[in-house]
Amino acid sequence: MLDKALGDLTGFRVLDLGCGSGEYVAELLARGAEVTAIDVSEPMVELVQQRFGARDDLHCYGQDISLGLPQERDDHYDLVLSSLMVHYIADQHALFAECARGLKPGARLLFSTHSPVADAELSPSGNYYAREAICDTWHTVGEPVEVVFYRRSLSEQIGALTDNGFVITALEEGTATERLRQRNAEVYKRLTTQPNFLFVMARSRS
Ligand SMILES: C[S@@+](CC[C@H](N)C(=O)[O-])C[C@H]1O[C@@H](n2cnc3c(N)ncnc32)[C@H](O)[C@@H]1O
Repeated sequence: MLDKALGDLTGFRVLDLGCGSGEYVAELLARGAEVTAIDVSEPMVELVQQRFGARDDLHCYGQDISLGLPQERDDHYDLVLSSLMVHYIADQHALFAECARGLKPGARLLFSTHSPVADAELSPSGNYYAREAICDTWHTVGEPVEVVFYRRSLSEQIGALTDNGFVITALEEGTATERLRQRNAEVYKRLTTQPNFLFVMARSRS
């Protein structure tokens, strides 16, 4: 859904929260946006800086977003995008308040996160409505890395948006492209038959 919703971004100021290695930075720049990309991981920030080089339409820097967006101005962005990052932030209400502050009136917030339905299976207490920190292990390059993310109910997430003046304009649970079906039929089947992710599009207060 994130790709589908982006469209032409010529002249748009876009903030990418938790940019990682810059998969969406590439997409945003190709669509003509002026991009600010933030990540808590300095290796990721360096990777993005090396990958795209010095250019006028990209500013990438390190920041722990759980501490807010202190370097960002009010009413500045046409779009805030965040792919698979918001579940690492304990206080989602404060996160969306910062997004609302940085967005121009009526501008869009687009994010993806874990499915609350799928994450409910990981609940230590069995209480779907409790917000719980879950420890996960990433097996990527090098040593396995322990990461903590927060599982929470759908109503808590929607409330954090609407309390901050956002109007939800679209919500999807499972999307997978035809390209993915051709590349990996097993993953395509899992994504199209089981809840894995949540995709949300919202507009800031006009
Ligand atoms: C699953 S990756 C997604 C990367 C990228 N958005 C993508 O979709 O390819 C999550 C990213 O969020 C970043 N992240 C996690 N917690 C963060 C925080 N508190 N502040 C800023 N970035 C954070 C991680 O460093 C990581 O790069």
